[in-house]
Amino acid sequence: MNSKPIIVAPSVLACDFNHLGAECERIEKAGANWLHLDVMDGHFVDNISFGPPVVESIAKIATVPLDTHLMIKRPDHFFPRFIRYVHNITIHVEPDYDIGSTLRGIRAGGATCGLAISPPTPFEKVEPYLNQIDLLLVMTVNPGFGGQTFMEPMMAKVKRAAQLRAERGLDFHIEVDGGINPNTAAVARECGANVLVAGTDIFKAHDAALAIKELRD
Ligand code: DX5
Ligand code: ZN
Repeated sequence: MNSKPIIVAPSVLACDFNHLGAECERIEKAGANWLHLDVMDGHFVDNISFGPPVVESIAKIATVPLDTHLMIKRPDHFFPRFIRYVHNITIHVEPDYDIGSTLRGIRAGGATCGLAISPPTPFEKVEPYLNQIDLLLVMTVNPGFGGQTFMEPMMAKVKRAAQLRAERGLDFHIEVDGGINPNTAAVARECGANVLVAGTDIFKAHDAALAIKELRD
């Protein structure tokens, strides 16, 4: 079911923030393909994480693409503050703003664009945008916190995305985020996901290289 290469994107949210740079280097050496950066504003989700200065700091040392997940109420307003530092910007479909023009703005700014869908949101909400995106992020937990349990019913969205991608001759990545471990990664890969975001499973592992390998294989 999977034609695209598997990409493992550790979520920096689970790192030891006292040693942010060293943590990024450690996880890159362990085999991370991308670094996943979870930006939260305390409005769209009930948590606040980090913003542009921290993303800029990570960009100075990172040697892999930065995958930025904006869990914020006004992605249209804030994406320009991130775009020069990162490779991909993913925005959510749920808040009230002009999604189409924001996706176009991200590409025009030189990054790839992703669209994310939270667990309660019906898949139909993202369908109109599938031909304008480089990545579809199917959230497998409610956004806001690391360390939650994978919601298997979201695999119906992953399968539907893979089906529509084939039917429409599109090429976007399908990413899953939340509660990813070797067992749930295998399920998600089987359903058609090729980008695996994992925070706890990788950063809290005794052997991060082994954890990444186990997600990929
Ligand atoms: C949740 C974030 C995730 C989170 C994943 O809002 O988008 O990226 O950090 O963490 P784990 O892998 O611990 O579920
Ligand atoms: Zn995320």
